[in-house]
Order: sequence, then structure tokens, then C-alpha cells
Amino acid sequence: MSKKILVTGGTGYIGSHTVVELQQAGYEVVVIDNLSNSNAEVIEGIVKITGIRPVFEELDCVDFPAMRALFEKYPGIDGVVHFAASKAVGESVQKPLLYYRNNLVSLLNLLELMPQFHVKGIVFSSSCTVYGEPDNNPIDESAPIKPAESPYGNTKQINEEIIRDFIYSGAPVKSIILRYFNPIGAHPSAEIGELPIGVPQNLVPYITQTGMGIREQLSVFGNDYNTPDGSCIRDFINVVDLAKAHVTAIERMLTDKVDEKVEIFNLGTGKGVSVLELIDVFEKVSGKKLNYKIVGRREGDIEQIWANPDKANNVLGWTAKETIENTVASAWRWQQRIASESPHSRV
Ligand code: WQD
Repeated sequence: MSKKILVTGGTGYIGSHTVVELQQAGYEVVVIDNLSNSNAEVIEGIVKITGIRPVFEELDCVDFPAMRALFEKYPGIDGVVHFAASKAVGESVQKPLLYYRNNLVSLLNLLELMPQFHVKGIVFSSSCTVYGEPDNNPIDESAPIKPAESPYGNTKQINEEIIRDFIYSGAPVKSIILRYFNPIGAHPSAEIGELPIGVPQNLVPYITQTGMGIREQLSVFGNDYNTPDGSCIRDFINVVDLAKAHVTAIERMLTDKVDEKVEIFNLGTGKGVSVLELIDVFEKVSGKKLNYKIVGRREGDIEQIWANPDKANNVLGWTAKETIENTVASAWRWQQRIASESPHSRV
């Protein structure tokens, strides 16, 4: 009897890739999403890859009665992977209450319902944003959590505290918290990938849309940082590698391999890559010259951050494998696929 996993936000970018990897690892998957930042078409992409149609319910995790009804309708859920959240840093500054309500209440609802339905644990989607500007790199899980630079980052910090407080109060639940660095790329099949709505906030979709001519020119936010080429440095991690980490975490949690009731892992490659270096990689793999200009710094940007992934490698038993070239190439392939399919991508 295969174990059943609830994936919240499962039609989103990282969620959809994780659904694919869970199905291919033999798990039965129930997907819920409120479609506020994704569309149900993504389910068709998942089916094309795995040949298995996951249960899908359009649902808002903030809606407690609806969430209770979900657990009643699908008994026997063994674990939860919780992605559903608002995640745009800039938007969170404009709409803090939306972010606090959505990102906190959705988690509170899950944690309240899980023990009632004998759900063993929750894998939580967190972010390296909780570290703020590191004192030094690479950064490991023992690094101090700094005051958040945005309501979005604050919701991730508060979520982690809610999980810890709830579990250490004696709740019969375990948790593995995964702090992502910068997820990029798309499934090699080009059946699923990142689908930013409107003007992309993140670097890689903006690069690929510029390469496609959907955007006129990429603005590089600053080249006067204290880094080798002056541009910011990030730890860009392949989205499929990241998805696989969630399967490893679920396996670890459901087979009681955890060392403590709440475990935290940095998910990164351990390599820092600058914005300008990433542009070079794009030009190399696409064969296109990218139209970009250097502009002023973006408010709130961290200068440089990359992971020390030793704990994830040695304790969780997961290592990022994909090269940055193949990862950027997968993003480009995906962009070409969606740009050729629907004019909507010319928004
Ligand atoms: C990366 C670098 C920009 C766009 C954010 C969230 C983080 C996570 C990932 C959710 C920065 C530069 C970007 C552009 C640019 N999201 N850039 N021109 O800010 O590192 O992380 O997304 O979990 O929580 O904070 O990612 O892709 O926005 O920026 O020069 O048009 O690219 O200045 O240095 P970021 P990003």
C-alpha cells in the first residue's frame, strides 16, 4: 500500500516538480492549490511526465472548514509537503497583511488538523531569506537568523517558529524544514517549469523572456557590490534536484530516521554564481547575446549568499547534482516551449 502525501501549492513551480518526483518514487499524491499564482493546466504537464493523474482539489489552505473536509475526504494522508504561500518579496512589502494571513494561517490550519487525522509529519518549504545578509559564506544551518528584510521573509521565520513551538509542545507530529537557496530551471521534459504571472521578479525567467524577445532588456540591479565582478552572488539550485530533496525528506520523516523532531536543512549546491556569470552561462547555452544593462541596486537585495550543504549531503543524504549549464539550458528549453505555445506569455 503506497503512502499518501498531501502537497499544498502543488501546481506551483517547485510544488509541481515535487509532485512528479513523489509519484515517480511510488507515493500517492493529493494536490491542493488555490490557483492564485498558478493554473490547473500544470496537472496535465505532470500527467504527461508520469502517466499518473494526481488527485487535484482547488482549495485555499486558509479556509479551515475546507481543509478539514479535505482530510475527511482523503483519509490516510501520511505526510504533508507544504508549499502553498505567497512568495514575492516586493509584493509582501506592499501587501503585508495578505502575506501574514496567507502564509501563517495556512500553516496553522495544517498543524491543527494533522494530529486529528494521524498525519505523521510535515516537510516545510522555507528559504535562505531567513538568514538575511550572511556575515560569511558558505552559510550553514547554525548561522544566526537575522531580522527579516521583508514581510515575506518574516513569514518564513515565523512559520519555522510556529512549527518548532507546536512540535516541542508535545504534538504527535514531526517536521523537516528545507531552506531553499535560489531555485531555477525546469523539468528536462519541458512539460512543466516556472510560469511567472506578469513581469518576472526573479532573474532567470527575466533572462529567458529577454532571450525570447518577450522583454526588451534585462536590468542588472547593480555591479558595484563587493564581489569579484561587482554583481550579486547566489546559490542557484536546479528545481528537479530541489524536488528530489523533498522526496528524501519525506522518506526520512516517515521511516523515523530523523535525529530530532524538527530538522532543518540548507538546500543549495554550495557554489556561488554571480548575476553576470549567470548571464554568461545563458549566452553560452542558448547561443544568444543577451540584451542587458547595468542599473542601480534593488532595494533589499542581499549582496552574496551561498549554502554550505554538508548537513543536507551527509545527514539528509541528498546532494544537488545538475550543472548550472544544464539547469539554465532547461529553463531556456522551457521558455521556448511556452513561448511557442501561447501568445499569453507575451504579457
Ligand atoms: C537574484 C539576483 C537580483 C532580477 C528571491 C527571494 C527568495 C526566493 C528566490 C522565494 C539578485 C538580480 C534579479 C532582475 C537582476 N523566493 N536580478 N535583475 O532575490 O535572490 O531571491 O527569489 O522563496 O526568497 O528573495 O532572487 O531572482 O529575484 O534575484 O539583476 O531582473 O538577480 O538583484 O541579485 P532573490 P532573484
